[in-house]
Amino acid sequence: MLSKKLEDALNEQMNWEIYSAHIYLSMSSHFAQKGLGGIAQWMNAQYKEEMFHAMKFFDYILEAGGKAQLGQIDAPPLTWESPLAAFEEALEHERDVTARINRIADLAVEEKNHAVGIFLQWFISEQIEEEDSVGDIVDKMKLVSDGSGLFMLDRDLGARVFAESAE
Ligand SMILES: [Fe+2]
Ligand SMILES: [Fe+2]
Repeated sequence: MLSKKLEDALNEQMNWEIYSAHIYLSMSSHFAQKGLGGIAQWMNAQYKEEMFHAMKFFDYILEAGGKAQLGQIDAPPLTWESPLAAFEEALEHERDVTARINRIADLAVEEKNHAVGIFLQWFISEQIEEEDSVGDIVDKMKLVSDGSGLFMLDRDLGARVFAESAE
């Protein structure tokens, strides 16, 4: 069973995951258009991962007897000054997501809803990985400027594929 407050919080997070997906898809479009196909591919995989997160909330809300409620999603930004700026923004965004998930976990503890707590454990671990992988790319981006370093980093990032079974 979900209290109204928890159901609302889970729904808000589901919609926030869709917003996250849109940010990454917008980044994918931006960098594809700039000729950075590897970064575009990485962002596209990240888009799929965020939609997978949204669907985890969707399925859980229904399973717990609530109603998944799709809301209005804000338009994402459309352009970024550089690949570094985009990955720095992504890192900032992931930290915000972590804070949001922690707040829902706090609420679950307050309400002694251990089932929701267990459900959120997966996301708490996932966010450690997300912050780590994006932070790692930010560090690498800082090492390369334009030119051959960026060319090689773009090629490396293009190797990423989203596989739901690996999640
Ligand atoms: Fe996510
Ligand atoms: Fe994420």
